[in-house]
Amino acid sequence: MLAGSNYLDLAGDARVIAAAQEASASAGCAAGGSRLINGNLCLHEALEQELASFVGAEAALIFSTGYMANLGVITTLAGPDDVIISDALNHASIIDACRLSRASTRVFRHNDPEDLERIAAGCAGFRRRVLVLDGVYSMDGDVASLREMAPIARAHDMVTVLDDAHGLGILGPSGRGVASLESVAVDVQIGNLGKALGSFGAYVTCSHTLRELFINRARSLIFTCGLAPGPLGAARAALAILESEGWRRVALLERAEQLRAGLKASGYDTGRSTTHIVPAIIGDNQAVMSLCERALELGVHAQGIRYPSVPEGSARIRFTPMCSHSVEDVEHVVKLFSQLPH
Ligand SMILES: Cc1ncc(COP(=O)(O)O)c(C=O)c1O
Repeated sequence: MLAGSNYLDLAGDARVIAAAQEASASAGCAAGGSRLINGNLCLHEALEQELASFVGAEAALIFSTGYMANLGVITTLAGPDDVIISDALNHASIIDACRLSRASTRVFRHNDPEDLERIAAGCAGFRRRVLVLDGVYSMDGDVASLREMAPIARAHDMVTVLDDAHGLGILGPSGRGVASLESVAVDVQIGNLGKALGSFGAYVTCSHTLRELFINRARSLIFTCGLAPGPLGAARAALAILESEGWRRVALLERAEQLRAGLKASGYDTGRSTTHIVPAIIGDNQAVMSLCERALELGVHAQGIRYPSVPEGSARIRFTPMCSHSVEDVEHVVKLFSQLPH
């Protein structure tokens, strides 16, 4: 399995499963309503405190999914008088949030600080400027150039939102994410409970003031059921394991590097990847899907990805290894893909 986001292999960990069972046994299978009515549980608030302290933020707020976190955060921060400045390869949920916000949207060339500067220079007339970036670009495996972009954001008085769904828990010191890796502070970070943490749901880390604002304004938090006890219990256990078992992050990044080097040596184009997401960019849709199906028949699941998940003409096999893959597992995958026609 090299097609999922269960990067640290915690979704099936006996301790995580037991924590989900215990949380369900003690608090039930549902939050039972919106968090602003009756669905705000001690479990939500305990996990929020643990996540804020893990990331080193003042506060955290759990949303039911990452998609909803992006909708809630972006539509709260930007409205018709504002401008959102968005990377060309941002996740679909960010794109949808920009549309829903009714703010003006300007898209800059992927990870290009010069283009960001050019666009920012033309946005002085708006009430508020919101810069939105992915931490790790989910189809390419490259990391936002935050160190170069942060001074631009400061100079143009932008609020910075980082969707670090794939980076939090894995990259940076102790897995504290891309902002920490790049030694940059951002205003809002969005993390995911369903990827490195092997559970389900998402969270935002920010100041106490912004948390209050999101609680009062983010419609995808207010008008939906709170996250259920099971995923909350699982995420709490997974966070504790992630913090105490640093070998998981190290092994994941080592296997990803081995995979990237092996694929490159076999003639594959791994693009800009430097992380645990490793694409093999081929271009043609049919060629990619045939390769994906053939590998699956031979026991390896690495997903073929086509437009609209990636730009037309850049179809690819996307490999996402796990920390529990062995050196031999990765050797096997590389050998198999080197032998298949590509
Ligand atoms: C960068 C990014 N943001 C947001 C999401 C959405 O998260 P969720 O699956 O929790 O809705 C994903 C993928 O699932 C993602 O890759």
